Amino acid sequence: MSLTRVPGLLFGGDYNPEQWLEEVWAEDARLMAEAGVTMATVAVFSWSRLEPRQGAYDFGWLDRVLDLLHEHGVAADLATATATPPPWLVREHPEVMPVDAQGVRLEFGSRQGYCPSSPVYRAHAVRLARAIAERYAGHPALAMWHVGNEYADHTLECFCPESARHFRAWLGHRYGDVEALNAAWGTSCWGQHYTALDQVEPPRKAPGPVNPAQLLDWRRFCSDALLELFAAERDALREVTPDVPVTTNFMSILHGLDYWKWAAAEDLVSDDAYPDPADPAAHVAVALSYDLMRSLKRRPWLLLESAPSAVSWREVNVPKPPGMMRLHSLQAVAHGADGVMFFQWRQARYGPEKFHSALLPHGGTRARGWRDTLALGADLRRLAEVAGTGTPAEVALVLGWDSWWGLEAPESMPSNRLKLKDLLLAWYAPLHAMGVAVDLAPPDRDLSGYRVAIVPNLYLCTEEQAEALASFTGELVVGPFSGVVDASDQVHPGGPPGPLRRLLGVEVDEFWPLPDGAVQRVRHADGAEGTARTWTEWLRLPDDGPADVVAAYEGGELDGLPAVTRRGRATYVSCLLDDVTPVLGEVLARVPGGVARTAVPEGVEAVRRDRHLFLLNHTTTPQRVALPQPGTDLLTGTPMRGQIELAPRDAVVLRIEGDT
Ligand code: GAL
Repeated sequence: MSLTRVPGLLFGGDYNPEQWLEEVWAEDARLMAEAGVTMATVAVFSWSRLEPRQGAYDFGWLDRVLDLLHEHGVAADLATATATPPPWLVREHPEVMPVDAQGVRLEFGSRQGYCPSSPVYRAHAVRLARAIAERYAGHPALAMWHVGNEYADHTLECFCPESARHFRAWLGHRYGDVEALNAAWGTSCWGQHYTALDQVEPPRKAPGPVNPAQLLDWRRFCSDALLELFAAERDALREVTPDVPVTTNFMSILHGLDYWKWAAAEDLVSDDAYPDPADPAAHVAVALSYDLMRSLKRRPWLLLESAPSAVSWREVNVPKPPGMMRLHSLQAVAHGADGVMFFQWRQARYGPEKFHSALLPHGGTRARGWRDTLALGADLRRLAEVAGTGTPAEVALVLGWDSWWGLEAPESMPSNRLKLKDLLLAWYAPLHAMGVAVDLAPPDRDLSGYRVAIVPNLYLCTEEQAEALASFTGELVVGPFSGVVDASDQVHPGGPPGPLRRLLGVEVDEFWPLPDGAVQRVRHADGAEGTARTWTEWLRLPDDGPADVVAAYEGGELDGLPAVTRRGRATYVSCLLDDVTPVLGEVLARVPGGVARTAVPEGVEAVRRDRHLFLLNHTTTPQRVALPQPGTDLLTGTPMRGQIELAPRDAVVLRIEGDT
């Protein structure tokens, strides 16, 4: 099933016609058709042009834009235009602007300035969304709805009195009464006992460290408050156009929003990804976020924004060298994207993004970038049959936002060097290098379809989550500092790993974080030596059901103590190993029949979508790859078998012949 009514893989980008004279639009439409653009994201920041004065709509220009797009075969990902409230709304209701943790109200003059909890902003946003939906319900260009823009970019939280009221209502809903909140937040510590809910405030700047349980609930609340706002617009759209899919563009693996919850609230997942061309390992981290996008709804997703070349918001904005834009685009498709879109169609002449690359650069059709645009459009057409296909994965990587928020509390942790994205990557990167497909999964998902589950960290682990992990019948790996606290950030009775103790057969006597730069040696049972940094633990093996020692610390204060253990199918890794490959290798080897993988040279990525095998050479040298099966390269139409040579930054998309 395709994501929208547009067949094949979508191709296009953000289109901001209001930044251009109308005579330019005809050229835009003609060039879009020439490049094979099938979708344009329109009106993301257009509120002040669509409603210049309250209730006085000016839809004429957008009518003409949508008609023109449609005439040229381009569908619209039509935005609700609510990403920047207009000046009249801000002046009439200054309280729609967000207030920071120090109490400073932010000014108009940028974008995405709104308080997530403002009833005024919400009412106006929903009114506008409904008006746009009513206006364009029957328009033939309308293919999907784009609500807001990158929620939590610029504005994740607001500390104004309205937000405080909203937070208290959210707390009332969660806890019922103030005594339950006192118990959950442990307010007996540092004299914070409340006698009424209305004494509670958001965690504004305080003299010292703020109650971590309060911070954890604040993170939950901020994600939920923006989600409520999104859902209010979505509901208005669904009432008017029940058949048009609704999305909002995610921001890859984002700390601020619980994307498991968010994805459940939208019809299709879309993402914005901007891997840094200057980072030679960027394609690995971005593959992880693409796999998350595919896993959120367990179906194809849409890359809604990416950069044709340089962005404009890094300290140094390095352009994409020849071949990289195509390679990165094909990589997204390999990982389940049913379309590749860009920011933006025509490069701006003014504003903060005038130096951001575009599909149609300042140099117009003479520019190198334009040739890339034409070529990518053609490539995506050749891959049309890939749309809708799935990626079978046997390995799940577990990621939960509650736990992430707890782990990365800004203060009062044993070490603030544990960053969840790094912990995920430490396991993902070697799997990626081995050509093993990986799904992401939330901690409470039934993992029974997988053969291996890896939990890089589950600092916050509830009894229910521990039970879900215990009932998993495949190979399970749990990383350090897991099972430490419950849903209220309170240490489990008896200490870590709390509810995971029986499953893992270990007890953590004491956390042993290492100072920056310190290295701890680890000796594996087969004699191989490893090293750990940043984090180690002093483990005890309980008398009842102890785990076996798979690797031990060598030298230092923990000399001879267990570092990696196994009890039945559950492996526990109590430190941050510099290289997890030996542990991973052992775990994968224990899976009966092994885990499916495609062996490729370093820097070459192998990803499957049903009967299609994507081989992507991320290096700058030619690479030889042994094809597991014969097939036809969809990009060139060439039949292939045996050994092939992949040119630097080149790709092959093989339609496998016969059984896969
Ligand atoms: C995104 C945003 C776009 C554009 C782009 C530039 O974060 O949604 O509107 O600003 O970045 O890279």
